[in-house]
Amino acid sequence: MKTYKVAVIPGDGIGPEVINEGIKVIEAAASLEGTFQVEFTNFPWGCEYYLEHGRMMDEDGTNALMQYDAIYLGAVGFPGVPDHISLWDLLLRIRKEFDQYVNIRPIKLLRGAPNILKNIKEENIDMLFIRENSEGEYSGAGERLFRGKPEEIVMQTGIFTRKGTERIIRYAFETARNLNKSLTSISKGNALNYSMVFWDEVFEEIGKEYPDVQTASYLVDAAAMLMIKQPHRFEVVVTSNLFGDILTDLGAAIAGGLGLAAGANINPDRIYPSMFEPIHGSAPDIAGQGIANPLAAIWSAGQLLEFLGYRNLAEKLIAAIEHVLVESMVLTPDLGGTSSTSEVGSQVVEKLSEIYKVTN
Ligand code: NAD
Ligand code: IPM
Ligand code: MN
Repeated sequence: MKTYKVAVIPGDGIGPEVINEGIKVIEAAASLEGTFQVEFTNFPWGCEYYLEHGRMMDEDGTNALMQYDAIYLGAVGFPGVPDHISLWDLLLRIRKEFDQYVNIRPIKLLRGAPNILKNIKEENIDMLFIRENSEGEYSGAGERLFRGKPEEIVMQTGIFTRKGTERIIRYAFETARNLNKSLTSISKGNALNYSMVFWDEVFEEIGKEYPDVQTASYLVDAAAMLMIKQPHRFEVVVTSNLFGDILTDLGAAIAGGLGLAAGANINPDRIYPSMFEPIHGSAPDIAGQGIANPLAAIWSAGQLLEFLGYRNLAEKLIAAIEHVLVESMVLTPDLGGTSSTSEVGSQVVEKLSEIYKVTN
């Protein structure tokens, strides 16, 4: 039987709570499928680890991760460790060192998920965000001089390379072509007169190679408004690192909430392992109470399975999540229910098994 090795980094706050449910679902899915198994290895990295060891992960941690087929991550960051340290030493380090330059975030209102937009039909909220995930505003380049003095200078430099910009835009065009959908670029060329003017030019250039793909291009401020007012305009979307970060939390809000928003950090060349994680953070406000919604983490687990080659299974898993939502019997408080994280995980497993009984 085929065995996959998955590195698990539960991380901080609700990270471990939701990841447990994702693992439970992957194990159930593998046993229902019956053709493969998944071996999980736990890495106890995160803010607690930092307080003990003075670092977020082992020094050669990324070496250790290299031998896995994929990484499954909960969330990183907790009060007590400055966020810029915890994130740059673990999450962003992995995204960058493993050249996971594509961040795929479906903003899709699943059947049964709450639709907060008045007069917008469920099926019109169906976007696939492709966020640049390796450079741009997150390049980490900058300087801080004369700290605390009146002459203090702070620079945070966005770096957009031709290679980095071309590859993400090309990836997005390929995705749109394969899905037979339109592609929308979101940028800000009016104010960011170097980086985003360049982005727009590259989008135009690469677009010439894809005459069959219908395109649109919006400024990020207008795009934020249109995502709420006319979400049907957005099918496949490509945007920069920071804009993608912000717009996918906005997107999560119109697609059932952060508890339902999944993401995948992909190294398309498959030289390095890819990493799957919900969009949400460690939610310190609800951590430890067993009430975090695990559906985002479970959906990310579905993306992981799809990445390993089990697309059909991933589709069944999404159908199982939809069954849980439509039935509305077992939901966490963010979705108006009274159930626990682990009850929701178990309910997804139950629905998935039912789907298997019907289809196999
Ligand atoms: P957050 O996503 O953790 O929480 C925002 C709000 O959404 C909170 O009210 C929280 O309770 C709620 N929420 C989030 N996920 C939920 C879930 N699964 N079920 C129910 N409610 C949920 O964002 P934040 O509060 O801005 O950040 C908290 C910490 O997480 C910070 O340290 C931040 O840097 C970090 N963070 C990490 C990641 C990541 O690891 N990928 C992502 C975002 C934020
Ligand atoms: C996300 C998170 C991260 C990001 C933070 C925690 C660095 O918000 O994955 O959306 O900005 O990419
Ligand atoms: Mn974010």
